[in-house]
Amino acid sequence: MALKITVIGTGYLGATHAAAMAELGFEVLGLDVVPEKIEMLGQGRVPMYEPGLEELLRKHVAGIEGATGRLRFTTSWEEVGAFGDVHFVCVNTPQKHGEYACDMSFVDSAFGSLAPHLRDGALVVGKSTVPVGSAARLAAALPEGVELAWNPEFLREGFAVDDTLHPDRIVVGVESERAEKLLREVYAGPVGEGSPFVVTDFPTAELVKTAANSFLATKISFINAMAEVCEAADGDVVKLAEAIGHDERIGKKFLRAGIGFGGGCLPKDIRAFMARAGELGADQALTFLREVDSVNMRRRGHMVELAREAVGGETFLGKRVAVLGATFKPDSDDVRDSPALNVAGQIHLQGGQVTVYDPKGMANARRLFPTLGYADSAYDAVRGADVVLHLTEWREFRDLDPAELAKATSSRIILDGRNALDPAKWREAGWTYRAMGRPRA
Ligand code: UDX
Repeated sequence: MALKITVIGTGYLGATHAAAMAELGFEVLGLDVVPEKIEMLGQGRVPMYEPGLEELLRKHVAGIEGATGRLRFTTSWEEVGAFGDVHFVCVNTPQKHGEYACDMSFVDSAFGSLAPHLRDGALVVGKSTVPVGSAARLAAALPEGVELAWNPEFLREGFAVDDTLHPDRIVVGVESERAEKLLREVYAGPVGEGSPFVVTDFPTAELVKTAANSFLATKISFINAMAEVCEAADGDVVKLAEAIGHDERIGKKFLRAGIGFGGGCLPKDIRAFMARAGELGADQALTFLREVDSVNMRRRGHMVELAREAVGGETFLGKRVAVLGATFKPDSDDVRDSPALNVAGQIHLQGGQVTVYDPKGMANARRLFPTLGYADSAYDAVRGADVVLHLTEWREFRDLDPAELAKATSSRIILDGRNALDPAKWREAGWTYRAMGRPRA
């Protein structure tokens, strides 16, 4: 009989994982402790913006016309325990308030609620990003006859569906052949299509995730450090990235210089990794991550300085600043630790009149930063602006007609915080275009 799967936590990770498991042919029961989320998901609606996810859900959610009915949602731990052979724990692990360490309270609470209801022989699979050593601790607290595996997730927001159905690799930390066999069964589809299946122990599986995110963060901060040098030396970081990227050992990806990385993963993951290394007495191994973090945070401040310079060099008081983009990356509505909103917020706190527009992130941005001004379109945002900041590289912004936009503002200065706009196109339309790490022209 086919395995029955449950997914605990229905954020970007869990909702996508649940839908993907149904797509792979399994009967799936998703759980969240927030009843409103469960109600929405049960109607085939996604509580956040993730391209392709709603379509996938609607293909499988029970009760929707034409759906396979393989996917259901509940708030009942009892139901989840009785239903599942394999339970994926996908709850979030944010940064602790006022500390670098990872807040494990959602993971601990999920394991605590699930444990009393688990059937003998059940396999619990942790997917959340956790400090190394957590799996061993959690395994020890599970009831007799129940096993744990650790299976980190590498999906990117905006590509979550594709990354889940066609992962670059599947990594499983296991302590028995049975756990490995069950997970091979779960992932037979993607593995059959060529996804490598890496089997390892608990600590290595946990570390793979934090190491991968640390490497990605380091790559971004490296190119942003080069951008700083390029600016000082009148070089062009975009050309430099292209040129070094031709070396296959370096690669072209994740070398986009700009206002740096944000989101719910990279910033907090490198900090939690440093904190955990400290606890293990290995803090020296990760001191470079402090520099990675510091280069990254400096980018936001640098954009604020470029904006100040653009509005006259002294103060933002009385100046209008248009901000295009609020999310931490395009194709997402996520504003967690968004560099764009951080820059907008800093300018606002220094007295600037900031108007933000984002294609999908407005509701979340308004909630997080209610004191900023918001506009319904890019055109409305730039009206009367002394400077326009392009801070999240949505396609909609690349497709803007600079000549049309120029009519709304007399100052016509655009600062490209993502090196994503076409400088020639903007300059031809009469704009002063300035990017990060590129010559002023
Ligand atoms: C990241 C990892 O990529 C993913 O594997 C992991 O599972 C979760 O964390 P995500 O946070 O969705 O995914 O976004 P990602 O595409 O990695 O971008 C992170 C941040 O880096 C964004 O703010 C993005 O704008 C920035 N970035 C990315 C750059 O500044 N330059 C780049 O070249 C690439």
